[in-house]
Amino acid sequence: MSEDSVEKRLDEISPRRRKLLTWLTGGFLSLWGLGFAWVVAAFVKPPRSPRSLAERVLKIGPIDSLPIGKAQLVRHGRDPIFVIRTDEETMVGLSGVCSHLHCVLNWDDQQQVLDCPCHEGAFDVNGNVLKGPPPRPLKRFRVETRLGQIYVHL
Ligand code: FES
Repeated sequence: MSEDSVEKRLDEISPRRRKLLTWLTGGFLSLWGLGFAWVVAAFVKPPRSPRSLAERVLKIGPIDSLPIGKAQLVRHGRDPIFVIRTDEETMVGLSGVCSHLHCVLNWDDQQQVLDCPCHEGAFDVNGNVLKGPPPRPLKRFRVETRLGQIYVHL
């Protein structure tokens, strides 16, 4: 191969290489710029404020208003919650929404179960499925009594 043909060939390749290097450098700088912008945005953005205690705890009412064996349906946002008093000191908080197709449940005082009017599903006082198509137990909420009042922790 003559020296002229090698130089000619280098001249042909060199612009391609230059273009590739330019493209790679541009791509690298773009990615670096995006990463840097993300870090700056994360630093400047105010932190999520922690939910206040009032948002996390729902006051239900006086203990005396809920006799043993009764349940109270509490409307909270889209999903109601049942507070069930099982004995003198024990109260259970359960989602009032069926785990099957999200129908609102009914409390049956006689049977001490939560019945679903849609497909005859039923849950016990611990939220376990007794019968019907519900695929999983009900979501539980911690219930607390303080100074004669009932509170549900969301
Ligand atoms: S929605 Fe409750 S059993 Fe189907």
